[in-house]
Amino acid sequence: MKRIVVLGSTGSIGRNVLDVVRRHPDQFRVVGLAAHRNVDVLRAQCADHPDARFVVTDAAAAAEVANDPARRAGLSGVGEAALLDLVRDSGADLVVNALVGFVGLAPTLAALEAGIPVAIANKESIVAGGELLIGAARTAGVEIVPIDSEHVAIAQCLAGSARADVECVILTASGGALRDRHPATFAEVAVRDVLAHPTWRMGAKITVDSATLVNKGLEIIEAHWLFGLPYEKIDVVIHPQSIVHSVVRFVDGSMIAQMATPDMRIPILYALAYPNRLKSDLGAHVLEFPALSFAPVDERRYPCFPLAVAAAKSGGTAPTVLSAANEVAVEAFLAGRLPYTAIPELIGSALEALPARAVASLDDVVAADDEARRWIREHHTTATRGDGR
Ligand SMILES: NC(=O)c1ccc[n+]([C@@H]2O[C@H](COP(=O)([O-])OP(=O)(O)OC[C@H]3O[C@@H](n4cnc5c(N)ncnc54)[C@H](OP(=O)(O)O)[C@@H]3O)[C@@H](O)[C@H]2O)c1
Repeated sequence: MKRIVVLGSTGSIGRNVLDVVRRHPDQFRVVGLAAHRNVDVLRAQCADHPDARFVVTDAAAAAEVANDPARRAGLSGVGEAALLDLVRDSGADLVVNALVGFVGLAPTLAALEAGIPVAIANKESIVAGGELLIGAARTAGVEIVPIDSEHVAIAQCLAGSARADVECVILTASGGALRDRHPATFAEVAVRDVLAHPTWRMGAKITVDSATLVNKGLEIIEAHWLFGLPYEKIDVVIHPQSIVHSVVRFVDGSMIAQMATPDMRIPILYALAYPNRLKSDLGAHVLEFPALSFAPVDERRYPCFPLAVAAAKSGGTAPTVLSAANEVAVEAFLAGRLPYTAIPELIGSALEALPARAVASLDDVVAADDEARRWIREHHTTATRGDGR
């Protein structure tokens, strides 16, 4: 029985993780849960997992729970610092990080430093702190197991092969909600248009990141750190059907691709069960798949993508600035304060203004994230009006 803590249990990935747990009650026991604002969903999850301790990070939501005698039993802490205590003190065999954004970095590091393996969906923490996380995992002798479908695919395609035999890794991208829309109309797109993803049902931020292709930029950085691949060996293609999740091309011309229906419970099951496999009724027969197609990335349609690739190659604090600027821009777009077309402008201007510095510690990464958010607050007042950070 694997004891697991689920950070971000109320989100899209978190709820899918708990569905996978529900399907395998003899394999997994939930010993910790963490939510930010969605206390109603958290309450239902606590009822399903009465032994689990839980943390609420948003102050107002935490006060609501703490003031309710029926709900506060099991509340083990409030605020971001409580995530670290939950991770360290819960006696978990696996921490599942399904948080969204930079807030996920410190708990990931805390888990690894405590010698607990991490199943990670929170790509922003790998983007900002990849070097630190890989170092901590190596020191503690524990693994970081991906949950992102592309990285779960790469892990499976690489299994058993020598790294020197890998010619390149090809990440697939659905192309997002605006894939078939003329870029001349992008200035007028509404939030609901961008959130109407053609193949995946996900949280709001990653759905916007899919439309801009920032998501694939973040995934390139994630692949670089998780698999030790140089950026020159990581390629991206548009694959609208989201059936092939990644491809590894070998030096002899052979390619191995991983396929599955676009259902996050499949990569989640892989990550929770790793290094074993568990039987499930998820997935489909190949005869049920649509015709598969692949196309190159059109950078005129996705101007954020070359910015993300350049930040990846700059290294140091550049990916942190990229990710922080993107978080602020996406939040502003979702709140109606920024047009869609301003997202690449904001990211580009932050990357230009804040040159990359070397990263030696968590403090360096936190400082770079703070600096990027401060710079954007000062220079993009419309975007950051109402941004409390
Ligand atoms: N969704 C997918 O299919 C998918 C696929 C691959 C990778 N990912 C990655 O997985 C991560 C989670 O994505 P998601 O789509 O599940 O996001 P989501 O639905 O927005 O859920 C985010 C979770 O994080 C919590 N949260 C939000 N802000 C927080 C904060 N400041 N402090 C602490 N907790 C906070 C939310 O709590 P409340 O809901 O209680 O407010 C929620 O539990 C992202 O990094 C994303 O890129 C997602």
